[in-house]
Amino acid sequence: MLKTIEWKDNQVVMIDQRKLPLQERYVVCKGYRSVIRAIQELAIRGAPAIGVAAAMGVALGALKIRTNRMDHFRARFDAICREMVSARPTAVNLAWAVERMKQVADGTSHKGVEGVKSRLVEEAQKILDEDIAINRAMGRYGQRLLKDKSRVLTHCNAGALATGGYGTALGVVRAAVEAGKRIEVLADETRPFLQGARLTAWELKESGIPVTVITDNAAGYFIQQGKVDAIIVGADRIAANGDVANKIGTYMVAVLARTHKIPFYVAAPMSTIDGSIKSGKEIPIEQRDEKEVTHFQGKRTVPVGVPAENPAFDVTPHRYVSAIITEKGIITPPFKTKIRRLFASK
Ligand code: MRU
Repeated sequence: MLKTIEWKDNQVVMIDQRKLPLQERYVVCKGYRSVIRAIQELAIRGAPAIGVAAAMGVALGALKIRTNRMDHFRARFDAICREMVSARPTAVNLAWAVERMKQVADGTSHKGVEGVKSRLVEEAQKILDEDIAINRAMGRYGQRLLKDKSRVLTHCNAGALATGGYGTALGVVRAAVEAGKRIEVLADETRPFLQGARLTAWELKESGIPVTVITDNAAGYFIQQGKVDAIIVGADRIAANGDVANKIGTYMVAVLARTHKIPFYVAAPMSTIDGSIKSGKEIPIEQRDEKEVTHFQGKRTVPVGVPAENPAFDVTPHRYVSAIITEKGIITPPFKTKIRRLFASK
């Protein structure tokens, strides 16, 4: 299976998602700042994938710190972690992964600077391996929700490319296919970065899973025609009450699902659930460069002087969510108590 990101010879290598599907190129990061740039410029994107990238990025940064003194090392390492956390604001997996790396540094300081460095490298790779296993577990639970011959609509890319591998929403689709079900996917193209048209379509085609791309504004048409049986999306952050931040446009699809009585599922690892915030109102929404909207392939498509707004995510209130699929099981409403219970369980 394709590798979204890997640690190779003390470098971080990632498939360049800006170039897909026309070119299969790789970005090689030798320092943590190039990992930050890759995250900001969407060479790597998707909540779990940027979590893995952030962990590898801070490990890379740690390796380059030249000192034997633990206090100097920690001061520099903590500064790198702060810089990494501010790369993108919405996906909580980024902060989650960096926090986990800091805890490793805390717990291994008795091993000396070199000892901490090697544990950090190990931990980053562990986060990657765990992510793939988590996606497979999510797939096993989630596929039960899909009947044979289901037509599934998805928004953005929540597949192997958005994770360490296999995918969250697309992991559920993959698992259903592996269980022998015939599944067809309708992929919203997902303006403006076209994660659906370029990435979801590419990876499903590579895996031999039938996929058709539709424009974002055609989703209502297909749902109204009865051509969608279920909607499955990923998430960038889920609040304690079950409100879900995901790619801009997700909310529209969720409202359509409710109107047409189609299940709207969210597949996300526990690391995407931010128990520290009560509701989606507290989720910071990344505002990206207006050029992503005003220009297409380097050419301006909007009249000069007309501004554009480019929020990268929206929040779907929990009342529109039929179920959240996690690696610990499927959660149905009421989410608040069930999410709390799931965090408490081992
Ligand atoms: O801006 P992106 O491409 O990083 O946004 C990604 C999404 O919104 C995904 O749906 C989400 O991160 C879930 S990925 C498993």
